[in-house]
Amino acid sequence: MNTESEAPRRDYDITQSGSFTKGEFKINMSWKNMSLNDLETLHMLGKGSSGNVYLVSHKASGQFLALKYISVFDDQKRKTIINELQTLYTASSEFLIGFFGAFYQEGNIQIALEYMEGGSLSDIIKTVQGPIQEKFLARIIQQVCLGLKYLHKERHLVHRDLKPGNILFNTKGQFKISDFGVSAELDNTGAECGSFVGTVTYMRLEGKKYSFASDIWALGIIVLESVTGKFPFRDEQDEAIGVFWELLNTIKTKEPPSISTNMGYSKDVCDFIALCLQKDPKQRATVSDLLEHPFISKHCTHTPTSASEWQQYNNWINQLVKIRSQTEKSAQLDQNIKTQSLENKLKAMVL
Ligand SMILES: Nc1ncnc2c1ncn2[C@@H]1O[C@H](COP(=O)(O)OP(=O)(O)OP(=O)(O)O)[C@@H](O)[C@H]1O
Ligand SMILES: [Mg+2]
Repeated sequence: MNTESEAPRRDYDITQSGSFTKGEFKINMSWKNMSLNDLETLHMLGKGSSGNVYLVSHKASGQFLALKYISVFDDQKRKTIINELQTLYTASSEFLIGFFGAFYQEGNIQIALEYMEGGSLSDIIKTVQGPIQEKFLARIIQQVCLGLKYLHKERHLVHRDLKPGNILFNTKGQFKISDFGVSAELDNTGAECGSFVGTVTYMRLEGKKYSFASDIWALGIIVLESVTGKFPFRDEQDEAIGVFWELLNTIKTKEPPSISTNMGYSKDVCDFIALCLQKDPKQRATVSDLLEHPFISKHCTHTPTSASEWQQYNNWINQLVKIRSQTEKSAQLDQNIKTQSLENKLKAMVL
């Protein structure tokens, strides 16, 4: 893949056992021993409802990581949360975000995660501002399904907050699921941040009862939103419904959203979505069924004739990463200007 993007690049291999390799320089460090002092904060990567995410550098190796802040003020519970998170994230799947440690400082749990230079599928949806081509989307969804399959079949874990913001990608065109288990842990431990626990918009029909089928519903909404370029639940003014009760009522009372070939979509993608968006959770496809579906299998083959399509996919990813790095740079610039003007104001006050 072309590596011209200006985003910080990996020229190293990073493993969850904590072995960093950078050229000739290799550190064998267990992530269990890593502390916050080993990390230097560079700049903010994004904002979530639970807190900010920062790009940090591991001082000894120069490796980039993402440090996610979650506000948790309950002293007694936070240790349990950290332990649980460590267990949950000791997952070994290339389709899940790598986890390098969880720390607590000043009311925040901080989670050190694999840095994904491209950002999230949500960023792609915003950047593309319209439909994502089916041939590219299928490659993304295959990877999401492989991550979900690992969670469902190997770890017997329901994600509970699957949404475009929790599907991250890197310059290699790899997509990985993040925040698995986090919402469940916060829910169980009674942490504040009610809004953090399960995202309203990708919610399923079955209320508080989560099951593997709940993740499949969320997956269907994600594919639908990506392929049409529009969140499917909308009010009379064609605005995305963001009010919890209104959305719940719409989902419960109306037929599940769908698309058809008359609208220009392929039969495969229409059928894939229909298999996910069944009102009755028992009727929904499993993640293993979906991986076998033609929407995935037709686009994700590796044959000599598919080489140019993979090249197109890689070029598309590179463009997206470039845009992301430019956005990050201007956000950084804004931040610097704000900090400077604040410093100037403070100086003026002192004088
Ligand atoms: N590991 C990562 N690498 C690179 N960027 C990241 C990483 N994790 C998060 N981000 C960026 O930070 C943003 C915020 O992430 P966060 O998980 O806090 O919130 P969210 O999932 O978008 O929303 P919510 O808080 O509602 O769940 C993401 O949209 C993404 O752009
Ligand atoms: Mg997230």
